[in-house]
Amino acid sequence: MHTKTPPTSIPSQRAASKNETAMKKPMSALVDRFQREVNYVRISLTDRCDFRCVYCMSEEMTFLPREQILSLEEIEWIAQAFVELGVSKIRLTGGEPLVRKNMISLVDKLGKLDGLDELVLTTNGSQLTKFAVPLREAGVKRINISLDSLNVERFRQLTRTGSLDKVLLGIESAIQAGFEKIKLNAVILKGRNDDEIIDLVEFVIAKGIDISFIEEMPLGYIDEHSREESYMSSEAIIKVIEARYPLMSSSDTTSGPSRYYRLQSGGKTRIGFISPHSHNFCSTCNRVRVTAEGRLLLCLGNEHSVDLRALVRAHPGDMDKLKDAIIKSMDLKPEKHYFDLSDEPQIVRFMNTTGG
Ligand code: GTP
Ligand code: 5AD
Ligand code: SF4
Repeated sequence: MHTKTPPTSIPSQRAASKNETAMKKPMSALVDRFQREVNYVRISLTDRCDFRCVYCMSEEMTFLPREQILSLEEIEWIAQAFVELGVSKIRLTGGEPLVRKNMISLVDKLGKLDGLDELVLTTNGSQLTKFAVPLREAGVKRINISLDSLNVERFRQLTRTGSLDKVLLGIESAIQAGFEKIKLNAVILKGRNDDEIIDLVEFVIAKGIDISFIEEMPLGYIDEHSREESYMSSEAIIKVIEARYPLMSSSDTTSGPSRYYRLQSGGKTRIGFISPHSHNFCSTCNRVRVTAEGRLLLCLGNEHSVDLRALVRAHPGDMDKLKDAIIKSMDLKPEKHYFDLSDEPQIVRFMNTTGG
């Protein structure tokens, strides 16, 4: 199952002159009906998590039974298929990816995949004191860490189970481990943590790292708060920041949905905004997701999917079949997500099921 086949040759590449090939990055074989090239896959290692963030989960959660979860070997096989098809960036997500047993052994293997430029990971930070160095050594280049509050009590309320001290130590370990970039993710909820926007900005400036402020998305049914009432737009957050720290927009991109700004006063910190409500980014979408149970999800905000688990279990070792199914799935990728904030979400899966 682990034999590596040569990368799929893509017609447009074959036609390119030697010079062009040297200048251009190889194109992905994955192009959807709207001519968007998919070169980025987010793979969820588990739906489990040691936190219960109020915007992500309900307090009582039932997680998937183990046999329904892809094995580490199946994940590696699927990742290899995507890379052979031209995907150059893989982000590992969850749930919390670092709670998956033996996850480092998989990361090690993914880090060695020929043709993969960027192996990155999104974590809640709770296990980073243990895993920051092994992840860096396994080839993870950049890491995103969720942090919504710098206040111990409030952090506990927002995550229901999390310890701020542990996460702050985790962030420190990540800084020491020498990742190329570290970005914090903060979901801002009006009336809950919007008074910490400046504190979070000052925290990242002091640490020399980046931050993205995220608009809450209506994924899964929650009754802890009203998503409509707690909605805070990126524009409103920018206003708060600009009153203290004037920003200038930047052309920086991580090929993710963040729009980045820098501080007019300088420094290396980038401040990003992920605005699924106020600034739709679907027209430039370059990514798909694989859930922990092996469902290839073509869009975060829609249900179109292909069951890759069934396929790899029915045809073990058949790389061509797998690649074929992935190529065909591109026809299912919807044009955009439609989120509204009513208390009845259109998408009933929680973010931990979807994979970040
Ligand atoms: P980079 O790859 O470094 O740009 O990171 P990222 O910010 O895309 O990834 P991260 O895992 O940190 O996700 C931050 C937030 O962006 C999460 O809430 C994601 O669910 C959200 N996000 C990422 N991709 C998409 C997308 O395609 N659609 C929507 N609606 N949200 C997304
Ligand atoms: N809306 C927006 N962001 C969310 N996250 C989890 N659930 C939601 C939601 N409903 C964020 C986490 C983490 C990232 C992977 O997704 O804060 O940073
Ligand atoms: Fe866990 Fe991340 Fe969901 Fe929080 S947002 S409960 S850390 S998966």
